[in-house]
Amino acid sequence: MDDLVTRGTARTEWIRSRMPLLRAARAEFAVSGPFVGRRIGMSLHIEPKTAVLLEVLAAGGAEIVATGNHGSTQDDIVAFLRSQGMTVFGSRDDTLDMHYANVASVLEAAPDILLDNGGDLVAGVIASGASVIGGTEETTSGGNRLRGELAGRVPFPVIVINDSMLKAIGENRHAVGQSVVESIMRITNLMIPGRRFVVAGYGWCGRGIAQYLRAFGGKVAVAEIDELKAFEAAMDGYRVDDIGNLAEWGEVFITATGQPDVLTSTVFDRLQNGAVLANAGHFPWEIDVAALKATATGVAQLDSAIERIDLADGRQLILLAGGRMMNLAGREPKGNSLESMDLGFLLQSLSLERIATSFASLPPGAQSVPDDIDREIARRMVRAMAAHR
Ligand code: NAI
Repeated sequence: MDDLVTRGTARTEWIRSRMPLLRAARAEFAVSGPFVGRRIGMSLHIEPKTAVLLEVLAAGGAEIVATGNHGSTQDDIVAFLRSQGMTVFGSRDDTLDMHYANVASVLEAAPDILLDNGGDLVAGVIASGASVIGGTEETTSGGNRLRGELAGRVPFPVIVINDSMLKAIGENRHAVGQSVVESIMRITNLMIPGRRFVVAGYGWCGRGIAQYLRAFGGKVAVAEIDELKAFEAAMDGYRVDDIGNLAEWGEVFITATGQPDVLTSTVFDRLQNGAVLANAGHFPWEIDVAALKATATGVAQLDSAIERIDLADGRQLILLAGGRMMNLAGREPKGNSLESMDLGFLLQSLSLERIATSFASLPPGAQSVPDDIDREIARRMVRAMAAHR
């Protein structure tokens, strides 16, 4: 085996050993074979946990054709999956154009079922008029696309995993919270206690990020445009204000809104020297990196995930992971905790099984995870957690 395959195989073994829900699903699918004769086309972050998900789907009879998402592909995991007979496109250093070519390659393989993250595969199928029986969408941003620009144009059922309350609590809130704080510590090695953090967005991810920063002793302020969520943040004990008013106060800024242009020139102009900017949202558009760099007198790469931006007035700002999802694109990324992804990927597995077995009776378009699947997984997760006590 070459080095990459050896490394990917070993890393996946550790992850697989701590994903008991997926282990049980793999055994069930090997018997029931819900995907026999089906080709699943996937666009999702390629990391060891995703490899375990793909093994479960393959055990259920699926042929896998996959690409990673831009900037987060782990080459050793690609190598491992290829060694298992799966067709996998993409590598860590792919440009955005190369990533879109990989997405096109997945679609050219004519999958029957889509496992999408961000809506690119569904959009591609609609544009080409290809035929699929249905699919799943992993994230908030993809769900927004399906219900926004693609609304009324999706002729097959797409289960939006992100709609699940189980995922919102287990993954977006608690796992993203833990993972973003862990990533800041690992990438920057900065101390959290007493440091002033500004979290933009108090949705599921923002709530978790704020909660875990505070648990480590950080001082946390929240910027949120939705009045009720701003109220919730205030009631949860955080300082709440407009992002502009927090610009001078904050030392570290983390965006988690899913929306573009959250940190723009009006904020950059007021930041204190040394302020750190990071994004946890799906698209690399929450920090206006182009505007920031356009005004810079110099940009220095200090570390693989740390850039120093020199401004004409003498201030220096720090940008983490180029404004991409810092817990997946940063240095040695770990992503969300194993157990949270065991849960999240069981949601994927059972939702894809539902598409494969019941697509004809499901309505077309974006839809939530069926309630019986949510409750079944909640029961299994509580049992699995109780087993450790
Ligand atoms: P959400 O919809 O629950 O929360 C987003 C919040 O941002 C909302 O409360 C909204 O009012 C607020 N918001 C929108 N524009 C804003 C602005 N300009 N300033 C301040 N607040 C603003 O969404 P959720 O689930 O929290 O996801 C947020 C992003 O994180 C999405 O892009 C999602 O895809 C991504 N995500 C990232 C993960 C990771 O591992 N880093 C994992 C899961 C989701």
